[in-house]
Amino acid sequence: MELFNGFSKLSTEEKILAISKLFDNQKEIFQYLKSFHHSDKDVQELFEGFSENTISNFHMPFSVAPNFLINGKNYMVPMVIEESSVVAAASKSAKFWFNKGGFQTEIVSTEKIGQVHFLWHDSVDLLKFKFSELKNELIEDTNSITENMRKRGGGILNIELKDFTDQEPGMMQIYCTFDTRDSMGANFINSCLEQFAATFKNWYSRQAEFSGHGLDIILCILSNLTPNCRVKCWVETDVKNFDGIVKDIRGEDFVERFALGVRVAEVDPHRAVTHNKGVFNGVDAVVLATGNDFRAVEACGHAYASRSGKYSPLTKVDLKDDHFKFTLDLPISIGVVGGLTKLHPLVKFSLKMLGNPTATELMGIAAAVGLANNFSAVKSLVTTGIQKGHMKMHLINIMNQLEVPKEYRDRIIEYFKTHKVSVSEVRKVCDELKYTGKIKGSVKI
Ligand code: MEV
Repeated sequence: MELFNGFSKLSTEEKILAISKLFDNQKEIFQYLKSFHHSDKDVQELFEGFSENTISNFHMPFSVAPNFLINGKNYMVPMVIEESSVVAAASKSAKFWFNKGGFQTEIVSTEKIGQVHFLWHDSVDLLKFKFSELKNELIEDTNSITENMRKRGGGILNIELKDFTDQEPGMMQIYCTFDTRDSMGANFINSCLEQFAATFKNWYSRQAEFSGHGLDIILCILSNLTPNCRVKCWVETDVKNFDGIVKDIRGEDFVERFALGVRVAEVDPHRAVTHNKGVFNGVDAVVLATGNDFRAVEACGHAYASRSGKYSPLTKVDLKDDHFKFTLDLPISIGVVGGLTKLHPLVKFSLKMLGNPTATELMGIAAAVGLANNFSAVKSLVTTGIQKGHMKMHLINIMNQLEVPKEYRDRIIEYFKTHKVSVSEVRKVCDELKYTGKIKGSVKI
């Protein structure tokens, strides 16, 4: 295998050509990759600019979950996700809660964190003693960076010195909290931190009391663990309102089983991870549709779920006096300005569809969808099981995978309204249609 030098310097066409050379049918591959390009050259260039070494566009479904009543406001929520049944589950849940007061949210705080990690081989006590002097310089030297943010009501909240020398010789950090208003704030925070590092070095070089050789800046970066950038979202209703939520099940039996389902996640981290994955099915889909960083959101959420030392569910059930309350406690750092928000045409559209929300409003929307998905998942799991609904939604994918001819599809969809979906059943039914022109029928549900 030869080293490929200079791939990034090639034009898009040249990159596609280079990749198509890996295949026998070069011409078709070239056309295939080009076929996913946007017809408008400018839009295509815009998409290519979001990443590097771009050769084509990777399509994901852009869906909508209607009827999300959040703090009394009705939203049609954009969701970008590839898993069938997630949007359906969110929509079903939103509809169920619509006439029961919908979703309520409360922003706990919006504090973001950035750190300058350094090694300190000088007097720790003296540094602690003189830190307030350094702190003033850190704030002063970042004034030009923070100016606009301060005008918007945000900026630096606090700067502290943290000492980790008991864990690693010399290891310390400047720990700074920020309010980044409507932006996620990664660039803003990282710019402040790099300036802090420069200011720190400069300040240290001017201090006669120190040796002058004891500072080694290791790295400056925001922390994606933002437990104080957090939203609580809940739904609540009287237990009797669950009567018949699933055929022949009484409300009181349902909520008990539901609470038991959540309890399993509290007891067992294996279940808790899957439980929280169901929350992030909804959260990530909104995060993606609004051009935010789902990796940051996931990393933070899972770390927060482990805060007690045991990985736990992010949702909890409160059952008291025949009243059911289901709450999601979610740390989530997302923005509605900066990043892709003003660049990606569908991100712009998503935000417009949501009525151009503030960052805190969007935190609430993402949390509501996460809670809705978790509600649907646990509800199905403790009653009918999820495969029934899941495989129904997956039917189209199965038909595509089996290349079922178009003319059979409506009849197959109709048939599986009352029959259990599986790949082998779809194949069988398709063969029956092909060879006999009709479906014999088998496992009815
Ligand atoms: C599947 O994407 C998500 C679920 O596994 C979540 C859960 O188990 O709670 C259904």
